[in-house]
Amino acid sequence: MSTHLRRIVLLLAVLLSVSLPAAGTVAAAQPTVKVFVDTDIGVDDAVAIAYLLRSREADVLGFTTVAGNTTVENATNNLLTLLDVAGVQEPVAVGAAAPLQFPRSRTGAFVHGPDGLWFAGTPHDLASLPQDAPAAIAAAARANPGMTLLALGPLTNVAQAAQRFPEDLRSVKIVALAGTRGPGNSSPVAEFNAFFDPHALDIVLESGLDVTLVTLDAFSTVTFDSAEFPQHLAQEGGALGQFLAQPVGAYMMAQTQGASGPAAIADVAAAVYVLRPHLGQATSALVDVSTDTGLTRGQTVMATTVNQRVTMIATDAQLSELADKFLTPGFDLALALGQILMSRPDNAQVVLVVKGKTIARLVEHALTRY
Ligand code: BDR
Ligand code: CA
Repeated sequence: MSTHLRRIVLLLAVLLSVSLPAAGTVAAAQPTVKVFVDTDIGVDDAVAIAYLLRSREADVLGFTTVAGNTTVENATNNLLTLLDVAGVQEPVAVGAAAPLQFPRSRTGAFVHGPDGLWFAGTPHDLASLPQDAPAAIAAAARANPGMTLLALGPLTNVAQAAQRFPEDLRSVKIVALAGTRGPGNSSPVAEFNAFFDPHALDIVLESGLDVTLVTLDAFSTVTFDSAEFPQHLAQEGGALGQFLAQPVGAYMMAQTQGASGPAAIADVAAAVYVLRPHLGQATSALVDVSTDTGLTRGQTVMATTVNQRVTMIATDAQLSELADKFLTPGFDLALALGQILMSRPDNAQVVLVVKGKTIARLVEHALTRY
């Protein structure tokens, strides 16, 4: 298919997949969203950030970096390189070099390369940057009440910001790419960002702040063709696309282990969700994360039904006591269960489902229309 024809088909596909206004109504303009990004960039972070920079609906306020897919130094160099290529100047502050309690896992190199961007990043002068990421997040929150904090990496900086500046973060919408209800990608039960720093995720979940988790269950459905997408980026993506094509190709190959076919680009799911929440389904949940060192490290347990919430909050001994007396005349089981439920309200919205194909098409369209 010629490039021109392919573009028209892509555009039509995007238009058809986004709900059209009823006849006679005027399409509402997509509102602008103020977004501050915390990132362990990372190939998929790079694609997500490029998408935001190319989206008119995003007002990108600034960035903080964190260790995750690679060291915080590599992540910062990668971010600054991407911003250079995009021709964008935004405030950047350097954040945590390691998780709150665990040693820094280095396994991100398997999918993102030893430098986090398959050798596409270039060294920058990092010493001149602000080095207090939690303070940078809080300052942005103070200046932009209601902003969205998009966390694309482990939640170390976000947890520290929540602990040090709780009042500043009160009006912030935290959207974090983290957790899974189904299988994991860092272990059989844990998603990478939750696994890397579960103590940080735990602090964020217990903070009482407005938290949404875009989970692996959802982002694993945002897939791109591992042969075609890098090619399209290189041929039709302008300077930014040419920059991303090689690392994206290597990242997808690492996922498919050299085979062709679809591969997920995780962080774009959260970036698109922030701008277009109707493309995901958020459910109120009570979420716990395991901070154990063993098999369950980083596992996220999510209760979304009354039964699940009750059995997550109460111990088996407490529930057994209720079972012993629930048929006793005058005993109010509903009241007892209500008290259990009220003792621990839901602490997050979980996005377990997104419109993966639509999100992938939107991202491809945004990055290849140049
Ligand atoms: C998450 O882990 C990292 O590899 C990606 O950048 C993404 O944030 C997916 O589990
Ligand atoms: Ca990431």
